[in-house]
Amino acid sequence: MSVTTVKDRASISSDYFELRPLQPTLGAELLGIDLQKPLSDGARDAIKAAILKYRVVFFRDQHLDADQHEVFASRFGPLYAHPGSRRPHNHTKAIHQIAAADFAARADERKALQAADPDQLWDGYHADTSWRLVPTWGAVLRAVDLPPVGGDTIWVDANAAYEGLSETVKARLEGLHVTHDYRDALNRAGFDYPIVAHPIVRTHRETGQRILWVNFTQKPTIIGLDRSESRELLEIILRQYKKPELQVRFTWRPGSIAFWDNRGAVHYAVRNYGDYPRVLERILIADEPQWADL
Ligand code: SIN
Repeated sequence: MSVTTVKDRASISSDYFELRPLQPTLGAELLGIDLQKPLSDGARDAIKAAILKYRVVFFRDQHLDADQHEVFASRFGPLYAHPGSRRPHNHTKAIHQIAAADFAARADERKALQAADPDQLWDGYHADTSWRLVPTWGAVLRAVDLPPVGGDTIWVDANAAYEGLSETVKARLEGLHVTHDYRDALNRAGFDYPIVAHPIVRTHRETGQRILWVNFTQKPTIIGLDRSESRELLEIILRQYKKPELQVRFTWRPGSIAFWDNRGAVHYAVRNYGDYPRVLERILIADEPQWADL
């Protein structure tokens, strides 16, 4: 598969779809393309270029079944089967069901953890599989069963979040690493994985942009700082993520699909739909193993 480089992004070909930006640097709707049809290399490269530029793209009225979802996602790289996946349709493959029932079941557990360690900052802003040494690069999320109202998803431009910090904070973050600890969930699923630390400010492999990258669902702690200073810096980052100027908010409809660059954006699922059993299905796309040759 050819890789779209930063040079290619200068113009996103309009041969395959109409691109309608939702925010200046974040979120674009791609209209007039039918994802049920085989995707040409040109269309695939144009979609990838749009994702690199806008970090998340949205398709409407695409009523893909699970197999078509997988065929589409696999045009963008090898699929990653998440070990904690709830597998729908007896699917043996890479589809991960995001079900409201799973969040509800864990809410009490999370409250207990927070009560036991009130200094630990927790919030819903996250990137997928950041707990891995090489996180997945892309995610294709498909609406399956939506509440009549509510249940939007928010994405944050993690490059703009970095660029918007004061020079003083940027200097303080330079060279620091933050932990991503997903062990509780993995242990529950019968697996284990070490606690990983990634740079707080990462350089995007394809765009070269600097990215502010913290997962507030995975017990972030900044290595080498005392807990109060770690918390102070994490609170600054969280305030950045929450700025409406850096966000795009997407309201799902039947047939909606979101496809995002997990390395350039963090996201947040808005859980304001009561006990409706909202379901979406997600496929993650693996990144290149940067350290394979070391
Ligand atoms: C996710 O967090 O990956 C899914 C987002 C959502 O449920 O809206």
